[in-house]
Amino acid sequence: MSKVTVVGAGNVGATTANVLVTTQVADEVVLIDIKEGVSEGKAMDIMQTANILGLQSRLVGVTNDYAKTADSDVVVITSGVPRKPGMTREELIGVNAGIVKSVTENVLKHSPNAVIICVANPMDTMTYLIHKISGLPKNRIIGMGGALDSARFKYFLSIALGANATEVEGIVIGGHGDTTMIPLTRYAAYRGVPASEYLPAEQLEKVAADTMVGGATLTKLLGTSAWYAPGAASAQMVAAVLHDQKKLISCSALLDGEYGESDLCIGVPAIIGRNGIEKIVEFDLNDAEKAAFKKSAEAVHNTNEALKAVLG
Ligand code: 2OP
Repeated sequence: MSKVTVVGAGNVGATTANVLVTTQVADEVVLIDIKEGVSEGKAMDIMQTANILGLQSRLVGVTNDYAKTADSDVVVITSGVPRKPGMTREELIGVNAGIVKSVTENVLKHSPNAVIICVANPMDTMTYLIHKISGLPKNRIIGMGGALDSARFKYFLSIALGANATEVEGIVIGGHGDTTMIPLTRYAAYRGVPASEYLPAEQLEKVAADTMVGGATLTKLLGTSAWYAPGAASAQMVAAVLHDQKKLISCSALLDGEYGESDLCIGVPAIIGRNGIEKIVEFDLNDAEKAAFKKSAEAVHNTNEALKAVLG
């Protein structure tokens, strides 16, 4: 039997739970939140679709009772406050670091063997924080950002190409921030053919620029940060782990020399399977891409500095 816990029953957490249930990724999903009744209500609403859609997965909502999350195979941490229009993800660090720290401690008390997927923002820094406080093997902590950013990249690419969204390839590496993410336009492709064969350089650059501010654009439109794609991207990662899919997904991983960086979590392509991050794949970056990655890593290191207050 497979069991997944989603911490945080806000928009992203509830959507993750909904996608996990409607795609029947796990046998049992627990949605947990500190707000009395919210996770129970959302779980009930989602489970009332079970009969309509013929679903076999079971979802339960609980208020703050971590004992009910015991023995989860995968735990998705979505807790924390989302950004508002005009805010950067980095501005959330003060509030979210404390929340993510206590959630991680609670989760590991009951599921010491779980693979953890971090969604909370600023995502690379929160993923790094989980490493620091948990001491878990580095393969078992995965930051979700690159999966979402790559989905946005492929969306904008498909629009520019007039192509079916499932037939384009694109990957985003670097930090999960408006100025730190790096959509790898050189590797973007339409059915194996480089996208640059179809799109002029300026249009490809526009696709990359739209991708980088993809989250901010939605935050402005919605008044709060997005949830459908973040939830689906989180569920995609859970599926890759639970079903040992060995999928290449961009995610925030703790680097130890890969891409010339160490002691930080940042988006890189990785093979995701039952052991979490099973392999970091090192793309052959050109000089401009290497320079962009270095700059992005510096920015993430700087944001991580703010953790000192939490880590003591
Ligand atoms: C986003 O980019 C929530 O950070 C997330 O929408």
